[in-house]
Amino acid sequence: MLRLYVVALLCLFTCFACQTIERKPVFSPDVLPKEYFNINTSHDTVLRTSRGARIHIPAHAIKATGGILRLAITEAYTITDMVKAGLLTVSNGEPMSSGGMINIRPADDTMAKIVQPITVEIPTDFIQEGMKLFKGERDKTGNLNWVKPDSLAMGQVNQRFANARQLLQQNCYSCHAIEKRVTGPALLHMTARRERKWLHDIIRNIAALLATGDPESNCLFDDYNKTAMTTFPTMSDQEIYDIIDYIDNISKQTDLETYNKVRLAKDSCKAYYKEKGALLFKQNKLIKDNGKFVTEDRRFSGTVTATFIPEVVPNPNNGVYYTFNITSFNWFNVDILTKDLPGIVDSELRVSVTGDYKDNIHVFLLIPSIRLFAEGGPLDGEKHKYGFFTKDGKIPMLINKKAWIIATGEHKDQLVFAQQVFITQQKQELTISPAISSKNAMNEFLKSLELKDIKMEVTDSRNAKGIREIDSLLKAVEGKKPMNFDCGCGETPAPQQASKQIQI
Ligand code: HEC
Repeated sequence: MLRLYVVALLCLFTCFACQTIERKPVFSPDVLPKEYFNINTSHDTVLRTSRGARIHIPAHAIKATGGILRLAITEAYTITDMVKAGLLTVSNGEPMSSGGMINIRPADDTMAKIVQPITVEIPTDFIQEGMKLFKGERDKTGNLNWVKPDSLAMGQVNQRFANARQLLQQNCYSCHAIEKRVTGPALLHMTARRERKWLHDIIRNIAALLATGDPESNCLFDDYNKTAMTTFPTMSDQEIYDIIDYIDNISKQTDLETYNKVRLAKDSCKAYYKEKGALLFKQNKLIKDNGKFVTEDRRFSGTVTATFIPEVVPNPNNGVYYTFNITSFNWFNVDILTKDLPGIVDSELRVSVTGDYKDNIHVFLLIPSIRLFAEGGPLDGEKHKYGFFTKDGKIPMLINKKAWIIATGEHKDQLVFAQQVFITQQKQELTISPAISSKNAMNEFLKSLELKDIKMEVTDSRNAKGIREIDSLLKAVEGKKPMNFDCGCGETPAPQQASKQIQI
């Protein structure tokens, strides 16, 4: 049984040869769940998969027997999906970073054909500019290779981002930087710590916002020594939201994990201050009743109440999609060659396999944050040493990313496996020693990857648990420079202000 499992795992890819490294088979695509949809091809139809893809099928876009068709759809959006399915992010041997893969095909009617383009949208945490649509093409031996890159139908988004870049350059970077505090706060993660509407209002006219007694802007204003930010009365709402959405996107792209933590901390702050606010309110009342010798800082008066703080709201789906048109049934992959990613550097990565089970081993490189999954091949002239792009060990890489090397194989009827986590550097040599393992150990590892996947779920902490966790959360968040997250200024006045009042 175990042997069958291993054989099933090792069944997909073979050699892409050429000047790059030879690759061998891996895991199986059949493990991914399929979703089925019955459609009448003479109607306009929009399908929505449970994982969030939207497929727009115009009437008569598909030719099928009797005008009725059952479609089978398979999606791979996380690194775990890709590893389990053996869907390498490699085009002709070159590593890529995937934005998601989808397979759309008729379940039964093999004669069905797409005769007019169908629009497909797949959900994503952020838009990586430069992504292209690759088609999965089977080579002579039936293996899948990502080829024929085509543009995505993303004209509108690209235009909005280009507008935003220009607006920021012309109006904002004199006082702001993305990653650090200068005259004004760092803009990175601003959409994680603030509401969209509030951001719109502060950009449009900070004076008007301050005048309403809004505690967040008043607190910031104070924190920035009452330096007034410029008002932008003539900027259109669309332009303001272009800026907000652009910053939102680059924040997630830069560091999704911190973005999510800031979001989580923000909600925790709200829950925390909802309780705290009620206490402060009582405290303030006590101070007021205390007689004429007690002075009061009125800056926040009327705002430190339970009613001011809105309910914790669920993390909204940000509704960002990669959009493309397809004209045939197949696997499609929204992908970018790793060498085209911003911040990429020419690097070297070599992995030595040692120990009793160093022969007949498959070695893989996984970088969950950019969804890279590539199989290594032997380096030129070196035994038991693997590289992941060219035969001299060179590979274009993002530095300082959490990555894994995994090695799998079999020995007699036993599974051989090892995994090693590391942080990517420009020049690295790693050693891995596979050992006899079990299917469970490997599954556990895949599960743990899911947790570390960039699609990590953010759950709200609207309850006591969230409140208890707040200190450690904030510490964790504050440790992640450069975003200077400050719960006090972020949401309501810092609690120590109240205690100062009491001491008077
Ligand atoms: C003259 C300097 C200046 C300019 C120009 C400026 N800002 Fe600001 N901005 C500030 C300061 C200072 C603050 C902190 C609040 C205060 O003191 O007014 C701030 C606060 C903000 C905040 C709140 C940040 C947070 O962490 O909550 C946002 C968002 C913001 N600015 C966006 C913009 C955008 C977008 C532009 C350009 C359209 C812009 N700012 C132009 C100085 C400036």
